[in-house]
Amino acid sequence: MSAERRLRIRAATEEDLPHIVALDAEAFPADPYPYFVLRQLLASFPDFVLVVEDGGNLGGYVLSTPPNASRSWILSLGIAPDLRGQGLGRQLMTQILGRLGTEGVHSVSLSVEPGNDSAVALYRSLGFVPDPGGPRKDYFGPGAHRLLMTLSL
Ligand SMILES: CC(C)(COP(=O)(O)OP(=O)(O)OC[C@H]1O[C@@H](n2cnc3c(N)ncnc32)[C@H](O)[C@@H]1OP(=O)(O)O)[C@@H](O)C(=O)NCCC(=O)NCCS
Repeated sequence: MSAERRLRIRAATEEDLPHIVALDAEAFPADPYPYFVLRQLLASFPDFVLVVEDGGNLGGYVLSTPPNASRSWILSLGIAPDLRGQGLGRQLMTQILGRLGTEGVHSVSLSVEPGNDSAVALYRSLGFVPDPGGPRKDYFGPGAHRLLMTLSL
């Protein structure tokens, strides 16, 4: 990545909401979060929604939950299609995991579509371990199988 590139990872604000909605729709065209869900997540957990700015444009976002009994979930991660493969997803994940660690989180879980090789590779490289039972059938409804992965901090 070029040294001059102006990347900034920060907590999301209400003004970011339309951009996060657009990024989410690009990342998950078949099943994006509804606008109202993203608004409510941002309103409820503003410190747990991070965005990456690339020269003033929003290049990606990550959503997590605050800890509950020292456990958090990553709810979503998306990078703009033209910015993928440049390390932004890894940087966002590293930042949110660091943030969760400072909040006393010991265990981070997420679900991923089992055939999403790039996401699974990213999560494995960060230390996430797949559920030994394999993907959960119909986890998000009929036909929507998901692999659960967990990281111990
Ligand atoms: C998955 C996603 C977030 C990765 O973000 P990214 O910025 O492209 O990823 P990075 O450039 O930071 O790469 C991090 C790691 O991901 C993996 N990865 C990224 N692109 C990959 C590809 N095309 N094939 C295989 N692995 C890949 C690699 O392990 C990579 O590590 P490396 O750089 O050491 O090789 C991005 O592709 C995306 O937004 N996809 C659509 C939405 C999605 O699937 N989100 C996750 C759902 S749970």
